[in-house]
Amino acid sequence: MAKIIAVTGKGGTGKTAITCLLIRHLTRGDRIVLAVDADPDTNLPETLGCEPGKTIGDIKEYLYQERENLPPDINKESILESKIYETLEEMPRYDLLVMGRPEGSGCYCYVNNLLRGIMNKLVNNYDVLIIDAEAGLEHFSRKIFRKVDDLIVITDGSRRGLRTAERIRELVDELDTDISNIYVIANKVTDTNRESIASTAEELGLELIGMIPVDKMIIERDLAGEPLFDLPDNSAAVQEIEKIAQKLGL
Ligand SMILES: Nc1ncnc2c1ncn2[C@@H]1O[C@H](COP(=O)(O)OP(=O)(O)OP(=O)(O)O)[C@@H](O)[C@H]1O
Ligand SMILES: [Mg+2]
Repeated sequence: MAKIIAVTGKGGTGKTAITCLLIRHLTRGDRIVLAVDADPDTNLPETLGCEPGKTIGDIKEYLYQERENLPPDINKESILESKIYETLEEMPRYDLLVMGRPEGSGCYCYVNNLLRGIMNKLVNNYDVLIIDAEAGLEHFSRKIFRKVDDLIVITDGSRRGLRTAERIRELVDELDTDISNIYVIANKVTDTNRESIASTAEELGLELIGMIPVDKMIIERDLAGEPLFDLPDNSAAVQEIEKIAQKLGL
């Protein structure tokens, strides 16, 4: 069974950047990795340096639109399954699955049920699944993934960011998803806010597993529109990610 890691947090805190750097770490080991971009905005492919292709959203739409035209005796699950395999972006050291935009206003229950079954099967082909989730926890209530091993909440240095992390932790109890561990990573940390982040996290009872500094290499690449996947080992963010990965047993 694959280990499932989901990265969430408030908008703009660095979910995509950190997911990308965790994938960078994982692909240097010998584990088989599936990266999932579950944010409808779809930023992960660009950050990883690969072209975005077809999305699960496109396939769902196709199946929904064509539902009346497909012959009744055709196996819709196998059509969906083969189309999902077609959308898998096979990179040299990992596969990428892009969820894409949410569905239209019709009833997609049938397609979603099929999708859930196929995803649960697909997961078995990998050692680790890592999900760049959208801000908020709505995707969990859609329950494509029923089980998450590690939920990583990214926060910036602000008290408000840490409060969001606390709220996410509270929300998790109300969800139907089985989440084993919740960790917090503070990102874009500076010497000015480092101590207050650590003490606020402790006060709120959050398990802070890393503090990633503001990294000038990330800023430069962002400005140049370049991916983060091949950041060098001496990047400050990469060095902290290595320590975090160790704590997560990755
Ligand atoms: N450690 C860091 N140092 C400097 N810049 C960073 C760092 N981490 C992320 N950034 C920058 O912050 C911005 C937001 O990061 P990112 O897109 O990863 O956030 P996000 O949480 O995925 O955002 P969204 O909610 O829009 O999906 C980007 O411009 C990114 O390059
Ligand atoms: Mg993002």
